[in-house]
Amino acid sequence: MAVQRTFSIIKPDAVAKNQIGAIQSRFEQAGLNIVAAKMLQLSEQVAAGFYAEHKERGFFKDLVAFMTSGPVLVQVLEGENAIARNRELMGATNPKEAAAGTIRADFAQSIDENAVHGSDSESSAAREIAYFFSATELCPRLR
Ligand code: PPS
Repeated sequence: MAVQRTFSIIKPDAVAKNQIGAIQSRFEQAGLNIVAAKMLQLSEQVAAGFYAEHKERGFFKDLVAFMTSGPVLVQVLEGENAIARNRELMGATNPKEAAAGTIRADFAQSIDENAVHGSDSESSAAREIAYFFSATELCPRLR
């Protein structure tokens, strides 16, 4: 299987609960290497731009408000089949539907505040990584 990179956010709810380390451990234990990471306070403009594909959805305003409510940890994960692997580790968008042992089942409270984001495709991963990181900020581990 191919080595891929995927984009991940530890969202304000999980940052506020000091769950960064516990969540990053899930990625590392699964063989996903963190090749870039930074803490950011997103502006309304940056959050709205990131979630632009959802701008017609009823939850868009609340999503932007939540994502700007406190610091987030943005990161790039690298490993075999990283995009799908990360989505498996995260679990379903709605934590009530997330499989036992997934990050959202263990750390998230609701569909509005669900602890993590992960890219859903190669094209999303490329776009989302470039939205937050320059090429020189990425430190490849599997080469
Ligand atoms: S959907 O409903 O299948 O289109 O959801 P998805 O494309 O997986 O992700 C939508 C993102 O918006 C966040 N969000 C919500 N989704 C659905 N319903 C409600 N009420 C809602 N509130 C927020 C959801 O967490 C997804 O965020 P990311 O960061 O992409 O995981």
